[in-house]
Amino acid sequence: MTTSTVTTPLHATARELVGTGRGILAADESISTMSKRLEGAGVAPTGTNRRDYRELLVTTPGLADGASGVILCDETLRQSLTDGRPFPVACAELGILPGIKVDTGAKPLAGAPDETVTEGLDGLDDRLAEYAEMGARFAKWRAVLTISGTTPTRWAQAANAHALARYARSCQEAGLVPVVEPEVLMDGAHSLSECASITESTLLSVTRALTAAGVDPAGMVLKPNMVLPGAECPQQSSPAQVARATVEVLRCAVSPRLAGVAFLSGGQSPETATANLAALQELDVSWPLTFSFGRALVSPALEAWGGDPDHVADGQAALAHHVDANAAVLRDDRSSERTG
Ligand code: G3H
Repeated sequence: MTTSTVTTPLHATARELVGTGRGILAADESISTMSKRLEGAGVAPTGTNRRDYRELLVTTPGLADGASGVILCDETLRQSLTDGRPFPVACAELGILPGIKVDTGAKPLAGAPDETVTEGLDGLDDRLAEYAEMGARFAKWRAVLTISGTTPTRWAQAANAHALARYARSCQEAGLVPVVEPEVLMDGAHSLSECASITESTLLSVTRALTAAGVDPAGMVLKPNMVLPGAECPQQSSPAQVARATVEVLRCAVSPRLAGVAFLSGGQSPETATANLAALQELDVSWPLTFSFGRALVSPALEAWGGDPDHVADGQAALAHHVDANAAVLRDDRSSERTG
């Protein structure tokens, strides 16, 4: 699968996701995470409210101008909009590729106190076939690594890389583009260079596992963290420093044949995430660099909506504002020339 130079439907989907000057909206919080966020905004955590909120997001007028795809969770993929259209059908009709989070969460990893491995491989092939049948075009799996004096261990990096690679290969065999998300968290007081070093070793481990699994890089999207100092580090970095450090790590740790790189926001403020994405566009790289933000796009929308049907338009305006701001920085540069 890695050697073919023929353009396949997987390549075309991957390019549509990351090579069209748009980004991916991550709206795939699990039921429990979404419920906590709704409660935090004063909204009852019911299935209907989770549905209404996701409907608000995907029906935002003009969303497809800045978002090529949306990642949903299992619950939402099976729900329908108030007009009766199933979510994947509605997304496709709105010009947005529907995606699905297929991991089942980060669980304690035996042999690595305080570390996790992301689970969900059992029964994965059957679930992928069902999701593809329902209209999903791509999938997502997130691994989580933490920086501390003793972590991440090589064991946690290897276990997570192995799971990501098995997931990615299964996706490609099911005709879904895998979004491969190894996230090094920004929690902690570590420096920019510590994050660079850990992100590099994590990505090298993922690249080795993807190669061993025969995953076609041109038919996948990498979703890494930007290289950032820890949130509690007294020495914060400018967007130019973040961009340089991030690109140096990517250049040495990932395949030049990847369809593209779509960064997660990881807890950065919407404005910081956009400023860092803009700085990344200034650098010359072999891949489209775009966004696949969750919180940096949806938090303002949730706050503006607050569960009030009279404020749906406010929530949508907040989402559109941040999607447009990020898409605008992609179009201000040479990325469209790079990707055709
Ligand atoms: O799983 C996390 C999402 O894919 C990205 O979310 O941008 O809030 O880090 P985030």
